[in-house]
Amino acid sequence: MNTEEFRRNGYAVIDWLANYWQTVEQYPVLSQVQPSEIRAQLPAHPPQNGEAFPAMFSDFEQVLLPGITHWQSPNFFAYFPANTSPASVLGELLSAGLGVQGMLWATSPACTDLETHVLDWLVEMLGLPEKFLSSSSGGGVIHGSASEAMLAALLAARERATQGVTNQLGTNGNLVAYISTQTHSALEKAVKIAGIGLQNLRKIEVDEHFAMRADLLQAQIRADRAAGLLPFMVTATIGTTSSNAIDPIPQIAEICQREAVWLHVDAAMSGTAALAPEFRYSHAGIALADSYAFNPHKWMFTNFDCDCFFVADRTALLKALSILPEYLRNQASESGSVIDYRDWQIPLGRRFRALKLWFVIRDFGVSGLQKLVRQHIAWVQELAQQIASHPDFEVLAPVPFNLVCFRHRLGDEFNQKLLERLNTNGKIYLTHTKLNGRYCLRLCAGQTNVTREHVQHAWVLIQAEAQDLQAQ
Ligand SMILES: Cc1ncc(COP(=O)(O)O)c(C=O)c1O
Repeated sequence: MNTEEFRRNGYAVIDWLANYWQTVEQYPVLSQVQPSEIRAQLPAHPPQNGEAFPAMFSDFEQVLLPGITHWQSPNFFAYFPANTSPASVLGELLSAGLGVQGMLWATSPACTDLETHVLDWLVEMLGLPEKFLSSSSGGGVIHGSASEAMLAALLAARERATQGVTNQLGTNGNLVAYISTQTHSALEKAVKIAGIGLQNLRKIEVDEHFAMRADLLQAQIRADRAAGLLPFMVTATIGTTSSNAIDPIPQIAEICQREAVWLHVDAAMSGTAALAPEFRYSHAGIALADSYAFNPHKWMFTNFDCDCFFVADRTALLKALSILPEYLRNQASESGSVIDYRDWQIPLGRRFRALKLWFVIRDFGVSGLQKLVRQHIAWVQELAQQIASHPDFEVLAPVPFNLVCFRHRLGDEFNQKLLERLNTNGKIYLTHTKLNGRYCLRLCAGQTNVTREHVQHAWVLIQAEAQDLQAQ
């Protein structure tokens, strides 16, 4: 494809996307294809000679589109959102076209400088502690995912606890990390990768609101110390994946301070709520956290991937992850006056992700972002009240933000069937979880174009489908 063809095809793709966003509601939200249906339509072997773009694009539409689940549909209420927006896509396109690697400041200064700048903006936008600013002891960096941020935090915590010995000699099996039974599974993966071992991961029980029991955390840390082990990291969550529970960060942070244990706060989706000052209560206690991460790629209208990871003390992170092969040496790095983000993350190479985030913040403006977040929360709170006052349904967990967990009173099997029918029908897409062993439906509203009408319509469909099912 030469640049003139790129120009022509590029316009066509942008047109297609604009039309897609306008008409996305016509597709079943959850793809209805069967396993192997897509691959059966693809040639077994790659083309020997180059093909024209219209042929590729036609196959995209005919073969692949049916296999797409429409995360950008305003009727997508499953999991947590992974939303996007026009400004974000344009930023992503520019980033792909520039194709720069931002591993060192010197390999594309704007890539690093904009990232530092936008992450400082976010400290202000979310009311985060000043220690997360690049001008203080800490700073922020964009990672691909909250899972990567957890792993980086865990490695920094590991090295801080062992004064760098683990990086030299490997683990000796005495390091212990703490999460709640509701913490995202990414921390389990991090523990495996970092050589901590699943046996050294303590899952602390939760209270009736699915939040970590700080008293049990304290007791477990004491017991582990008494057994000669080395507690080194606690991960607390603002907005757990299953039910959106908020761990008691002030109490947990106090324990971590006293015990000299690293506190990582995972606010993957719900951190975005703090854009609106009235929801910053959920961030209470993070002034004592060692690290914090949230994903603009979930609820802040920025397409995947974009996780913002902040540390209070960048030296701890750098000590854990720094590498300096000869071929990366350069004057700017050696002057000490620039940031080289390669040392703040797991991979070496890095994309220019800050561009899309910058575009999103400028396109919506802080007040535009606040407005959407407030609306999403208000619509889900309204729905939660409607569900709670319906004689056949019950709400199973507190609803601090934009996720409600609920179920029909007719039990697990009924709710499972209800969910299957709703999703096969294709008008909306919800997922499930289990709370206290009980199967329930989850509805999370955070898609860029969702309106109150979409949320209300989902509720109408849920009630109608439940009535039909009951009548059978
Ligand atoms: C609370 C929480 N933490 C971490 C993650 C992992 O996010 P990522 O896909 O960015 O690794 C998720 C994903 O949904 C999540 O809900």
